[in-house]
Amino acid sequence: MLRKKPFAFMAAMLVGLLVLSGCGGSGNKASSNAGEKQQEGPIVLKLGHVLNEASPFHKGAEEFARAVKEKSGGRLEVKIFPNGQLGNDRTLAEAMQMGTLDMEVAGSATLVGFVPRLQLFDLPFLFRDQQHAYKVLDGPIGKEVLKDFDQKGIVGLAFWENGLRHLTNSVRPIKTPNDVKGLKIRVQEIPLHVSFWKILGADPTPMAWTEVYTALQQKTVDGEENPIQTIYTQKIYEVQKYISLTGHVYGAAVIMVSKKTYDKLPADLQKVLVEAAQETADWERNYVKDLEDKALKELPGLGMEIEHNPDREAFKAAVQPVYDEYAEKLNAKDLIEQILNTK
Ligand code: MLT
Repeated sequence: MLRKKPFAFMAAMLVGLLVLSGCGGSGNKASSNAGEKQQEGPIVLKLGHVLNEASPFHKGAEEFARAVKEKSGGRLEVKIFPNGQLGNDRTLAEAMQMGTLDMEVAGSATLVGFVPRLQLFDLPFLFRDQQHAYKVLDGPIGKEVLKDFDQKGIVGLAFWENGLRHLTNSVRPIKTPNDVKGLKIRVQEIPLHVSFWKILGADPTPMAWTEVYTALQQKTVDGEENPIQTIYTQKIYEVQKYISLTGHVYGAAVIMVSKKTYDKLPADLQKVLVEAAQETADWERNYVKDLEDKALKELPGLGMEIEHNPDREAFKAAVQPVYDEYAEKLNAKDLIEQILNTK
């Protein structure tokens, strides 16, 4: 929901009553009519995410807010709500569809109920490295998939990063796919992840992020998988003993704005959001990298046992059937080929 500061809101209402009857627009919509008075005070956009203040989502959102304020000359402000205060990933996206929330940053896997093709980027061992992922996500393929959001009442502004996902658990060290068998692993609510963990012989349990810490603490599940920075900043090390650096999935993130909010903004402020989101991607990705370097050094001191060299080739070979399954389900054989062939 577009929120104006109260005084500005009243002023804009007054202006709206005086001049908008002839313009057919809402009070928030800037008009190109030369005679229309500009609204006073900034437009404030609410941005929600489910991680805490130490996360790259939060730091990236702060950097984004700074860029938006600067680029808009103070006309647009972003207020950030972390820790799932406004809901979990699914309810935040639904709120954007309804226009009761303006913006969200979320792991792309949490959004596949809205944009099924996002699952493609979560194919295990799809990207050779992060540079490969950036080339695909920031290029024509990523832009094409972001457009799928348009049909869902959301504007996908840019891809950010969550990070390479690794497996943690409280039962045993993991070196080979065989070690995973029988483990109850919390996974994101994405069918593709359920498929490949089943192929590996695990017992995948889909669950919203906001419930994960408690589930691990109460041992409702044995393990979970997330980027190193998440395991560190969200204190997963308090409830998990082993981490195996499987790097099985590259977790992208998406910064989005409600289409209802976006359509109410004048074109120049729409451009500010798009540019600031894209420009902040580099900043956020670098932040992830630095944080992960720091976390890897600190996790052993925090009680985690790290397996640095699990048999990734064996994991990769084992999960290959999921490629055929999803090429067919998403009618995406060519797109997968294009991604794999992106240099
Ligand atoms: C998850 O496991 O649900 C996500 O990786 C958490 C997040 O970063 O949103």
